[in-house]
Amino acid sequence: MWDYSEKVLDHYRNPRNVGKIDNADLIGEAGSLACGDSLKLYLKLDGEKIVDAKFQTFGCGSAVASSSILTEMIIGKTLDEAKEITNKDIAEELGGLPQEKMHCSVMGHEALEDALNKYYGGKYNNTTVTNSSEKVVCTCFNVTENQILEAIKINNLKTVEEITNYTKAGGACGRCKGYIKDILETYWGGVNKTEKEELTPTQKILKISKVIDQQISPELQKDGGDIEFVDLDGNKVKVKLTGMCQGCKNSQMTIKTFVESILKDKVDSSLEVEQV
Ligand code: FES
Repeated sequence: MWDYSEKVLDHYRNPRNVGKIDNADLIGEAGSLACGDSLKLYLKLDGEKIVDAKFQTFGCGSAVASSSILTEMIIGKTLDEAKEITNKDIAEELGGLPQEKMHCSVMGHEALEDALNKYYGGKYNNTTVTNSSEKVVCTCFNVTENQILEAIKINNLKTVEEITNYTKAGGACGRCKGYIKDILETYWGGVNKTEKEELTPTQKILKISKVIDQQISPELQKDGGDIEFVDLDGNKVKVKLTGMCQGCKNSQMTIKTFVESILKDKVDSSLEVEQV
């Protein structure tokens, strides 16, 4: 029997903000009935401020509690402030969730992210991984690489079992477990792989994303700039420079050399960086 906090039980028994907003400005959706649970999140805005939020969910008590607390967390916040909320925040606000139920907090976060993406015209995304990684890893629960990566990053996940608890991926037929293991190994540095081993395109994308995310971006941010990984085309790493990095041609060349040298060193010596 799972141990639920008092707050989870309270929000399950007395869910807040249940229902729909007829003239909602944004609607975010996550999960699907075919996969066992789903959530629809309705937002009413005044400018960029969320003035009302309601939800409809089909799922277990933890899904109801996660959705309920999420509406309380976002009402009164600006969209910019709401962007900062993660599934970890939702679970913490509930006083914790059993590991096996963490996917309910992830579903809440995904519905919020879906609503924000609609507002920002698809330009808002919490991950640095590109559309090329929008590949479905787990067909039983329709979980993509991006969703798995985001769960790993935010929650510091290390095992396939943890991934299943947080995203449901791997929780039915189990065919995707090898792929999930591959993603974990690539993200955490490939424990059993040497630098000389040939990486698959997927592994390469994951590794480039990780190096940019953890090593290159923090360096550029120190000078008021940043970098986004856009795509990998053959050995060409397409990136977008933002902030202070955009303006000056000389600094762009320096940054290109800097980024290229790190990627050659950490991922693959044949990589070339191209700004888009
Ligand atoms: S494909 Fe992931 S559990 Fe079936």
